[in-house]
Amino acid sequence: MKRVLLIIGGGIAAYKSLDLIRRLKERGIAVRCVLTKGGQEFITPLAVGAISNEHVATDLFDLNAEREIGHIRLAREADLVIVAPATADLLARMAQGHANDLATAVLLATRAPVLAAPAMNPAMWTHAATQRNVKQLAADGVEFIGPNAGEMAERGEAGVGRMAEVAEIVPRVEQLLEGEDEARGGFGFINVSEARPPGGRLPLAGRHVLVTSGPTHEPIDPVRYIANRSSGKQGHAIAAAAQKLGARVTLITGPVEIADPEGVAVQHVETAQEMLAAVEAALPADVAVFAAAVADWRVAAAAEGKIKKAKGAPPPALHLAENPDILATVAKLKPRRRPQLVIGFAAETDSVVENAERKRSAKAVDWIVANDVSQGSGVFGGERNTVHLVTAQGVENWPQMSKTEVAAALIGRAARYLAQSVESV
Ligand code: C5P
Repeated sequence: MKRVLLIIGGGIAAYKSLDLIRRLKERGIAVRCVLTKGGQEFITPLAVGAISNEHVATDLFDLNAEREIGHIRLAREADLVIVAPATADLLARMAQGHANDLATAVLLATRAPVLAAPAMNPAMWTHAATQRNVKQLAADGVEFIGPNAGEMAERGEAGVGRMAEVAEIVPRVEQLLEGEDEARGGFGFINVSEARPPGGRLPLAGRHVLVTSGPTHEPIDPVRYIANRSSGKQGHAIAAAAQKLGARVTLITGPVEIADPEGVAVQHVETAQEMLAAVEAALPADVAVFAAAVADWRVAAAAEGKIKKAKGAPPPALHLAENPDILATVAKLKPRRRPQLVIGFAAETDSVVENAERKRSAKAVDWIVANDVSQGSGVFGGERNTVHLVTAQGVENWPQMSKTEVAAALIGRAARYLAQSVESV
């Protein structure tokens, strides 16, 4: 039996929600309700409870209710969350990630798709603030139905702002519940980049994924630098894959020839020290993937002016200093600051897996993607990659894939990992 959690906000359209409960129940869908404080001004918990045949949750700090069925359980046990009517105030608080009442706390805790049916005065609906919030929520993966044009409750007012009709909401709910089924079963090993649940909430919606990519350039003087052959293709593909699954993505990249992935916030840096500063500033994140080929060393004191070649003088000696290990720095952060999943790459030319395993424990990393970059493997600058995923549970040898497929498989695995750890809260 499918379970829907219906959050009823404070608007005159709340009366339609009583009918919505009935129609959903007729279709064999279990409906639990949260009635906001505003909602209680229009309909009573008694009426909602009688129709839904379930306890109606009203207050975040209702100790009895928390003991019986807390907000985390309400969030977790729903296959779909409906917000109807979604008032301007509720949308604003959702967009900001507030959790100061039961409705918003549940909305923040849930990983189920969310369908909002806005209802408000047309002037409030068209206000720039509301439109900004709706745009933000849509980008976070919230689905919207309505509002419709028509007469308002206030006499003589008309415009866009009426809550969608129950007859429209019900089929959309059924469609989203079906989409959720496909999304749960559909996360294949490689095909995850294509697995967009039709109309459903994407698996990384509401998550922040941080990715480093490309080489670093370590200056010798204003015109010369130390670099490496990293193309940034793998890291950029990972950022793009995370964006496709609905994450907010920050990509911090060294100098590369390839284009910024679409829909991703990209920061361009040159040196390892700049990359570390940008990574620290971008935290917190749920997942951090370190695919950059960071230079191990920099020139200890880069010259301020171009180093001149003087006739008969010996060539200058370069004194190197060790660069910060960005991956290890982030992996060893206190739990409060550390991303839940820290993933590193290990490019090795021999004993690929053994070296990767050593690196995983030395750097306190959750997963290491190990790849063979020995001569002839064609990994550097190439399109294909043969990798091994090294985790605490062991080693998986993945088949040769394109870098895009590796990215999709890796991000798919990360999404599943996060979903499982939410379920086990
Ligand atoms: O030790 P090694 O350089 O092989 O480790 C590779 C992994 O560590 C990669 O994930 C790389 O992005 C990361 N790394 C880093 N900062 C460094 C060196 C490596 O983030 N200074």
